[in-house]
Amino acid sequence: MVDTATGQGADWYGRTYAGWMADPKGFWAEASTAVTWSTPWTQVLDDSDKPLYRWFVGGELNTCYNVIDRHVEAGRGDQPALIHDSAMTGVVRQFTYAELQTEVARVAGAFRALGVGKGDRVVIYMPMVPEAVFAMLACARLGAVHSVVFGGFADKELAKRVDDAKPVLVVTASCGLEAGRVVEYKPILDSALDIAEHKPAHCLMLQRPQCTASMVAPRDVDWQAVMATAEPAACVPVAATDPLYILYTSGSTGVPKGVVRDNGGHLTALLWSMEHIYGVKAGDVFWAASDIGWVVGHSYIVYAPLAAGCTTIMYEGKPVGTPDAGAFWRVIEQHKVKVLFVAPTAFRAIKKEDPTASLLAKYDISSLETLFLAGERADPETVKWAQATVKVPVIDHWWQTELGWPGAANFAGSRLMPVKIGSAGLPVPGYEIHILSPASEVLEPNQTGDVAIKLPLPPGALPTLWNNAEGYKKTYLVDHPGYYMTGDAGFIDDDGYLHFMSRTDDIINVAGHRLATGAMEEVVATHPSVAECAVIGVADEVKGMVPMAFVVLYASEIRSKTDIEREVVKKVRDTIGPVAALKMVLPVKALPKTRSGKILRKTMRQIADGEPYQVPATIDDPAVLAEIRRTLHEHGFDVRHPD
Ligand code: COA
Ligand code: AMP
Repeated sequence: MVDTATGQGADWYGRTYAGWMADPKGFWAEASTAVTWSTPWTQVLDDSDKPLYRWFVGGELNTCYNVIDRHVEAGRGDQPALIHDSAMTGVVRQFTYAELQTEVARVAGAFRALGVGKGDRVVIYMPMVPEAVFAMLACARLGAVHSVVFGGFADKELAKRVDDAKPVLVVTASCGLEAGRVVEYKPILDSALDIAEHKPAHCLMLQRPQCTASMVAPRDVDWQAVMATAEPAACVPVAATDPLYILYTSGSTGVPKGVVRDNGGHLTALLWSMEHIYGVKAGDVFWAASDIGWVVGHSYIVYAPLAAGCTTIMYEGKPVGTPDAGAFWRVIEQHKVKVLFVAPTAFRAIKKEDPTASLLAKYDISSLETLFLAGERADPETVKWAQATVKVPVIDHWWQTELGWPGAANFAGSRLMPVKIGSAGLPVPGYEIHILSPASEVLEPNQTGDVAIKLPLPPGALPTLWNNAEGYKKTYLVDHPGYYMTGDAGFIDDDGYLHFMSRTDDIINVAGHRLATGAMEEVVATHPSVAECAVIGVADEVKGMVPMAFVVLYASEIRSKTDIEREVVKKVRDTIGPVAALKMVLPVKALPKTRSGKILRKTMRQIADGEPYQVPATIDDPAVLAEIRRTLHEHGFDVRHPD
C-alpha cells in the first residue's frame, strides 16, 4: 500500500542519493561542517587499511562540547535540554542546557578525581535516571569511553562486559523501577564483580529513595558525597577516530560483541539524520521511547537530539500500566513532543489494552508531527492502527546497533517520499544496499536474499569491534567480500524500497530487544536434567516474538516436568536477565534433525507460527517432527499440516 498523499520528496531524494553516490567524500565533508571541530580533519576517509576504514582523520573535537557547551555559548542556555519524565515515580525533572553543562562538568570532575582519564573505560549500569545521561556525557567530556549495560541483564552478562571493557569505574544506582517491583542493582553488581576477573578500582553509587544499597569500602563511593566536592572539568579534545563508546550487542554465541562508536563520524551522521530523516531543528522536542541501554537510547535519547539543540525526553515507564494505555499521549501533550520514535511493540501493547485508543480523547497531541518506528519489523496492522490513531505520517525505518543510525528510512526532514506499509523505506544516502545470493551475486528486485551494505560503511557506523578487529572482519565482512553483512534477509522492490523479512542468524527481537537464541540454548543446556535443547523465536501478539525452548530430558530423569520447566525459566532469567523473557519450555522426546544432525529450528518455528512448511527431504525421523506438532497443538498453537 502506498500513501501517495505524503509523497513529495522524490526530487530531493533522487538528487541527494545520486549526489552522494557520485562523490561520497564530498558529501560527508559537507555534512561534517555541522560539527564544531577543535582541529579540522585533513582526510575525509582513510581507506589505507581495507576492509577497515576511518572517517575524518586528523580531526579533533569533543562530543560533549558539541552536544552541550556550544549551545550554551550560542545563547540556548535557558532552553530545556533534558526532561526526565518518570511515570514510575510521578516526578518530572527538567534541565536546561546551562544546567546540564553544570551537572555534566561536575560529574566529569568527580570521575577524574576517581581516576578516569582519556581513553579509560567506564561501565554504566543504571536505570532511566538523568544521572545516567550525565555519566555518559561526563565520559565524553573527558575523552573516556563509556559502556552502558542495559538494566535488564543479569550478573553474568554484566561480568562479561566488565571483563571485555576493563573499566576503571562502574557507575550504578541502587535500583531500577519496573512495573510493580523495585529491581535492586547492587546485589547484581556485587555478584558480577565477584564473577569478573577484572576488578574496577571504584563503583560510584547513586542511592535512589526507593532503595538504599549497601556499600563496600573503599571500592564503593557515594554519588552525592563525591559530587559535593567535585571540581568542574573542561572538555578534552579527542581524535575524530577515538572511541566515544562501546555498546555490547548479542552475537550468535553467548559472547557479546563490543560495537565501537567513534567521535567525529558519529556526530556528523547523527546531525545529518536529525535534519533530513527526523526533520527536527534546535528547540524542537524529540522523544525516543527507548532505554539508554540500547543503541536507540544512545543515539536518539542522548547524542543526536542534544547535538541538534533539541529538548530530549527521557521516559522512565512503559506504554501501558504506568498507569494506563494513555501514558504516551500524556507525555506527548505535557512536553509538546514533535517527533516520537518507538518500537512497534509499544504500539501493539497500547492497541491491545485500548483497541479504539479511547484514552486519546483526554489528551491534545497536536504537537506531534511524525511517528518513527524501528527496532523490529513493523507489521502492517500495527502501522495502520498507528496511522489511524495519531493521524500523522508513520515512518518505519531500519537500523542496527552496529550502524548507530538508520540505513533505510523515509525523510520527514526533506519531505517524504511515498510511505509504503510493509517497507522500512529507501536506502539512506551513505548506504549502498544490495540483496545478495549465497554466492554474493546481486539479486534482481523482489528476490529475497542477504541484505548487505557495500563498503565503506558511512560515518557513524562501527569502525570495528572493541579490541577485536579480526572478530569484526570474521563476523561481518568475510561472507560477502567487499560488503558488510547485516544479518538480515529481505528484498528491494521495483521502486527501490527495502523490505526486511527476517534474520539469517539466531538473533530474535523480543519487544524490540535484541537477543540471541544461541546464548539462551547455552544456558538451557547447562540444566542438569536437560540432555539436548533448541530455542526458537515464535510470533507473539504484543512482543513481536518470544523465545520458546524445546528440551529433551535425560531418560533417567524422575522429577516432575513442571519443576524442571520452572527451573529452566529461572536459570535463563538468572543468567541472562529478565529481559530474555523465556517463559515457555516444552519437553519433547527428541529434537527434529537432518541426517547430518542439524536441528530443524526453522521448521519448528514455521510450525509454531502456523506457516506452511515442507518436511525437509534430509529429515532423519519424520515422527519426531510430528511430536513437535502435537506438543505445540496441545499448548494452543494453531499448527498446520505441511503443504
Ligand atoms: N531492568 C530490570 N528489568 C527489566 C528492565 C530493566 N531495565 N527492562 C525490562 N525488564 C524486565 C521486565 O520487568 C520484565 O520482567 P517480568 O518478566 O518480571 O515481567 C522482563 O524484563 C521483560 O521485559 P519486557 O520484554 O520489556 O516486557 P514488559 O512486559 O515489561 O513490557 C512492553 C512489554 C512491550 C510494554 C515493553 O517491552 C516496551 O515498552 N517495549 C518498547 C520497546 C523498546 O523500548 N525497545 C527498545 C529498543 S527501540
Ligand atoms: P538492534 O541492534 O537491537 O537495533 O537490532 C537490529 C535488528 O533489528 C536488525 O538487524 C533487524 O533484524 C531488526 N530491525 C530493526 N529495525 C527494523 C525494521 N524497521 N524492520 C525490520 N527489522 C528491523
